[in-house]
Amino acid sequence: MADIIAGVATSHVPAIGAAIDLGKTQEPYWAPLFKGYEASKKWIAEVQPDVIILVYNDHASAFSLEVIPTFALGCAAEFPPADEGWGPRPVPVVKGNPELAWHIAQSVILDEFDLTIVNNMTVDHGLTVPLSLMFGQPKEWPCQVIPLAVNVVQYPPPTGNRCYNLGKAIRKAVASFDKDLKVVIFGTGGMSHQLQGPRAGLINREFDTRFLDNLTKDPQALAKLPHIDYVREAGSEGIEMVMWLIMRGALDDDVRETYRFYHVPGSNTAVGHIILENKR
Ligand code: DHB
Ligand code: FE
Repeated sequence: MADIIAGVATSHVPAIGAAIDLGKTQEPYWAPLFKGYEASKKWIAEVQPDVIILVYNDHASAFSLEVIPTFALGCAAEFPPADEGWGPRPVPVVKGNPELAWHIAQSVILDEFDLTIVNNMTVDHGLTVPLSLMFGQPKEWPCQVIPLAVNVVQYPPPTGNRCYNLGKAIRKAVASFDKDLKVVIFGTGGMSHQLQGPRAGLINREFDTRFLDNLTKDPQALAKLPHIDYVREAGSEGIEMVMWLIMRGALDDDVRETYRFYHVPGSNTAVGHIILENKR
């Protein structure tokens, strides 16, 4: 049987990708940030997942205001890196798992979560930066990746509660797939994140810390957080953190916090990262 064994959450700031691609990771500004991911790279090299379900948001790269899917599941065999204005990142093409992705689509849609099925999609920094942070610069990504793009760009985004419950439906879907696959689920974006306006650069360490604490211990409480609290406390792009609740919902109620890292600044944001493992 396929099994989700762990969850990873991480910020996906595009400047991190640029720092990697341009060989700047050892510069004084960036070195402490990348040091925080050394343990995570070791962890995932040991875990060797077969498939990653990667929850992220597209930043007007594959989608635009013409079509705004709330939840879009990548069912294709391949997802090329998107051109975000400076050419595509020099990273490998993402290889999907159409069989598992279609199984998830069937299970989740019949469970009354109306996903959009996507068969042709490029993937932007929201997806590629987390892979770079966890795997470095390999010639090929070491496992298959199923993208799940969530609309957190154009109002109205889904509620945290909807995301948490979608995670639970994904967990059920994966558990009913009849091939032996080790699956890890990623939630990306956040943390404190205000990219524009008078509050640009807002950092709320207290809110972020409480979010990380509750992600492990009390996700039900986090799922009740209304949109306005994210915006007020963590900035307008702090809303990206609802995606972390999809990851959390896909894990057991009782999880082990394996690793945590929090760093300011990463571009205009607080960079947050956590690894949670099922205790089974
Ligand atoms: C920045 C961060 C993001 O997560 C993003 O999607 C775009 C920009 C930034 O900090 O610049
Ligand atoms: Fe983002």
